[in-house]
Amino acid sequence: MKLLIIGGTGKTGRQLIAQALEQGHEVTAMVRQPDKVKLTHSHLRVCKGNVLSLQDLGAAVKNQDAVLSALGHKRFFIKTSILSQSSKNLILAMEKQHVKRLIAITSLGINDSRYKLGLYYTLFVIPVILWFYFKDKSKQEKLIMQSNLEWIIVRPGQLTNGKKKSNYQDGEKLGHYILTPCISRASVADFMLKQLYDNTYVHKTPTIIN
Ligand SMILES: NC(=O)c1ccc[n+]([C@@H]2O[C@H](COP(=O)([O-])OP(=O)(O)OC[C@H]3O[C@@H](n4cnc5c(N)ncnc54)[C@H](OP(=O)(O)O)[C@@H]3O)[C@@H](O)[C@H]2O)c1
Repeated sequence: MKLLIIGGTGKTGRQLIAQALEQGHEVTAMVRQPDKVKLTHSHLRVCKGNVLSLQDLGAAVKNQDAVLSALGHKRFFIKTSILSQSSKNLILAMEKQHVKRLIAITSLGINDSRYKLGLYYTLFVIPVILWFYFKDKSKQEKLIMQSNLEWIIVRPGQLTNGKKKSNYQDGEKLGHYILTPCISRASVADFMLKQLYDNTYVHKTPTIIN
């Protein structure tokens, strides 16, 4: 398949690119700084672009079969709309180019999965550190849900840099009110790529945890 990967210079995005290429996909990575992509491959095209630019996204989305987004940022203490605004642009670009499938990461703990990232996140990390970020992620999810796309919102537990596992759990009701569930970025990438061919979670919000 021809895939557009957003957030490809990030830790999960790098896993997505590597695993997609291993599986034989043709990958376009839209990144802000192309020199941050260290991997070279005959099936990898790196294009410079910002997700806040509808024009950049329109050009990158053209002729793709699906889009995978691992977008994130670290401006936690600033009230930003980077995630929701970029999703609005991405949806517009995809609908215009008739690209149907969007597989996007948000997080466990958002919207109807509230409190399920464990007590530490519920009582401290989300209200104190991630408040604005999670508000924007919540808006991002709602925009994706209102779109006409074949969307799948992937809600991982806390991310680790561990190896890809084959026995992770996925489902709509997963999570834990006390303990923080974790999952490796490599397993998240594996799960996201599986969603290219599987319709089970279309228009759903699967959680993925160990
Ligand atoms: N950390 C956790 O425990 C956890 C738990 C659940 C969910 N998540 C979510 O999982 C996702 C992936 O996490 P991660 O740790 O792999 O992310 P990450 O390493 O922070 O990577 C984020 C990516 O988004 C890109 N990006 C940011 N703003 C952009 C813009 N304006 N235009 C184009 N690209 C832009 C970054 O590009 P640059 O390299 O140019 O900055 C980078 O490639 C995030 O949404 C995160 O919130 C994280």
